[in-house]
Amino acid sequence: VIDCQALAKEFGMFTFDPAFMTTASCESTITFIDGEKGILLYRGYPIEQLAEKSSYLEVCYLLLYGELPTREQMESFQAIVCHHTMLNEGLLRFYNGFRHDAHPMSMLVGVVGALSSYYHDSMDIKSPEHRNVSALRLIAKMPTIAANSYKHIIGQPYVYPRNDLGYVENFMNMMFSVPAEPYSFNETAVRALEILLILHADHEQNASTSTVRLAGSSQANPFSCIAGGIATLWGPAHGGANEAVIRMLYEIDKFKNVHEYIKQVKDRSIRLMGFGHRVYKNYDPRAKIIREICHKLLSELNAEHQPLFETAMELERIALEDQYFIERQLYPNVDFYSGMILRALNIPLNMFTVIFAVARTVGWVSQWLEMMNEPNVRIGRPRQLYIGATQRDYLPVEKRV
Ligand code: ACO
Repeated sequence: VIDCQALAKEFGMFTFDPAFMTTASCESTITFIDGEKGILLYRGYPIEQLAEKSSYLEVCYLLLYGELPTREQMESFQAIVCHHTMLNEGLLRFYNGFRHDAHPMSMLVGVVGALSSYYHDSMDIKSPEHRNVSALRLIAKMPTIAANSYKHIIGQPYVYPRNDLGYVENFMNMMFSVPAEPYSFNETAVRALEILLILHADHEQNASTSTVRLAGSSQANPFSCIAGGIATLWGPAHGGANEAVIRMLYEIDKFKNVHEYIKQVKDRSIRLMGFGHRVYKNYDPRAKIIREICHKLLSELNAEHQPLFETAMELERIALEDQYFIERQLYPNVDFYSGMILRALNIPLNMFTVIFAVARTVGWVSQWLEMMNEPNVRIGRPRQLYIGATQRDYLPVEKRV
């Protein structure tokens, strides 16, 4: 009889690290995080400087190619991205298969996965040119796919991309314009969304990025790998938290019961959404920036959502003074305040994680490119500790008890 558990122990040494608490899965030059000090750098540049001075497309270039672009490089990058914003008309018909009350993240997973059936011409993953054009196609088409999901839900006609607009303006136009009324942009709103996209662009080996890398290590095509990343992002412990935070704040606000809510969190009946992070054991630097723009935006745009912001501030103040949160080093993360910005921009709740996915696409494709550019990509294959039954013989059904 084979003693499986004894045999498993003889397989040799490997680390047992469920949830990868202390395991680095790769070397990377893209994003640096110091969780103790609350530092985040993209290619060496502090997130605070990029949020203040850069644009989302410039950050895309930086993440993809490692350096800030010259003026000429930026102009040609912008032109290439514009060139790829359209979707094949066949893909538009794909949306009709989804229910109108479908969550837009489900459409995003499906439509992005379906890109692989439209772009055979860019899918030779052994060719650097093909890999690059696939990455650009994904960055360019994601806002179109996201906006179409929204239009499908609300039953309005799809708005085609406009290449005379910037990346963020084009996205807002596809989301909010209707044929009869041209959409008028508010500069503060455009800049707020741009900063949000910059802050969400990459975050090293989080769950969705690790999914993309693992899928990519099997030599799967890039569109399928990114669809896997989107599916992973959807979970409330990851990108789905921005939606969950707003639902939580409405609930707290309805009953005016911050203390009662915190009590339930400490009883472990619920988690405080938008709080805590695997890597940050200090204030998430992105949350600091978002809290500031949130304050500015709400006072400039939409006083209506101010009470929610005040509830969030009170929640944060009480939590940060509470021993439970202090001992566990739980601070607001990027999602704690981001939902309030999206709310103020009139973006519906179920689109929050979609916006996150639009922003993170560049991070996913940059990480995928970095891995695929290595000379020998080995398939990712974690081991396990087997703790199941030892070998036994099959029993016919009449002999089973
Ligand atoms: N509320 C209350 N307690 C919490 C929270 C929270 N949000 N987060 C962690 N804790 C507690 C846990 O109960 C645990 O306590 P214990 O040691 O007494 O059992 C301790 O802190 C450690 O928690 P873990 O779950 O082990 O931490 P982990 O690193 O695995 O989880 C995570 C990180 C998933 C982000 C977690 O903090 C969480 O669920 N937060 C809420 C959801 C959220 O905001 N997600 C967005 C993350 S950012 C992003 O993905 C963009």
